[in-house]
Amino acid sequence: MTRSGGRRTSAPSAGAYPGCVLQSLRAWMHRHPWQADGVLAVMLFALSAHQVPAGTVNVRFTAIAVSALLAATVIPRRRCPVAAFAAAVAIGAAQVAFGLQAGSSAPAVALQPSATDLAIVVLLYTLAAHRPRRVSIAGLMVCLLGSAVAIARWSPAHAAHPGAPLFGAVVGLGGSALAAWVLGDSVAYRYRRAYYASLEDRAARLEAERDAQARIAAAAERTRELQEQRARAVDESAARLRRIERDLHDGAQVRLTALAMTIGEIKENLEAGAGREDDGGRTRLLAGAAHRSAKETLAELRDLARGIHPPVLDRGLGAALSNLAEASATPAGLTVRIGARPSPAIEAIAYFCAAELLANVAKHSGAGHATVSVSDAGGGLLMTVADDGAGGARLGPGGGLAGLRERVQTVDGRLGIESPPGGPTIITIRLPGHA
Ligand SMILES: Nc1ncnc2c1ncn2[C@@H]1O[C@H](COP(=O)(O)OP(=O)(O)OP(=O)(O)O)[C@@H](O)[C@H]1O
Ligand SMILES: [Mg+2]
Repeated sequence: MTRSGGRRTSAPSAGAYPGCVLQSLRAWMHRHPWQADGVLAVMLFALSAHQVPAGTVNVRFTAIAVSALLAATVIPRRRCPVAAFAAAVAIGAAQVAFGLQAGSSAPAVALQPSATDLAIVVLLYTLAAHRPRRVSIAGLMVCLLGSAVAIARWSPAHAAHPGAPLFGAVVGLGGSALAAWVLGDSVAYRYRRAYYASLEDRAARLEAERDAQARIAAAAERTRELQEQRARAVDESAARLRRIERDLHDGAQVRLTALAMTIGEIKENLEAGAGREDDGGRTRLLAGAAHRSAKETLAELRDLARGIHPPVLDRGLGAALSNLAEASATPAGLTVRIGARPSPAIEAIAYFCAAELLANVAKHSGAGHATVSVSDAGGGLLMTVADDGAGGARLGPGGGLAGLRERVQTVDGRLGIESPPGGPTIITIRLPGHA
């Protein structure tokens, strides 16, 4: 029986182990660059341990110190590669100048080049990997030049066997400098690519952030606009209610009070006159006045109701606009091309807009003709009122056009005015289909 579940242990697969060690080593070196370079310095120093020249204690000590100094230049190589390289090259140059002397003069033994000079190659690699190409190419040139001078100074001393050693020296020194530079440069190339990729990522992220911020700002702006519109709509409806209350109070209510008093007087007269002669037709006069007053009150109430909801709209926007166009003081043509009927609120707004705009044409434009056209547009309504008058229509505070704009904005609509001096005037109103 096989058991499933429980704790799973991963068995090391063949071949995974060295890769794993290398990976851990690389990770450790990335996390501890100073320590890693310290180890490298120790290794470079150890390479020349067997090359300590024979001689006095002073000579031996100086040779060891020079090697240690040279090896130590790799420790700060990541933080300041140029300075580290310059220091190593200076030591190398001193070795070429004083440790390799041509002719019969005795060389400065303590300054003999050693395996630790590999530090210069390591630093050239670092330069190529972490600094711009012009800097690393300059470093490569210095190394190649130094190698040439070293070979030139060294070869006469080995004139007895010029061939193979000379070739080996040229290939070894020049080749290792070139190889270090190429390796470093390819690492730099990878860094650069990764860097550009990260820049592109960042740019894309910034763009997305900017888009998001723009959307948030637009949403905030829209919210503010809607709040203002709502506040205006509330104010407007409160003002309208106050006006209706005033109209009822000062108009219909006053008339109804008078009517009640007149009817009361008629009643008194009728009661008092029961069985006696009519008082000269006074009761008839009172009844006539009451009748007139009742009719006037009715007319007033009808007008008031029409201001709230024009009854003609019950027959549709086309019929209502047709009524307006017929009643217009300036002859007006009407075109209505709408499919589905807009909501009652939208119809009412369109109606009041057309009424005010036709009134404006008659009052201000001096036009001989006006046109009203309504059509469907993008799921909403597009209405234009145009005239061939003098132009000059403008939004003024508290004016009818300003009131229209606010009314239109309460349902997210737009009002556009084109009215250059000399005319013509075209007022465009866009409304949604529903509110
Ligand atoms: N069709 C038009 N042709 C030329 N001028 C116009 C036209 N409509 C409006 N105007 C000008 O624009 C101004 C503003 O019009 P608006 O309707 O806002 O106010 P009003 O008609 O003067 O007053 P209210 O509408 O309150 O009675 C008008 O005073 C008028 O000078
Ligand atoms: Mg007006």
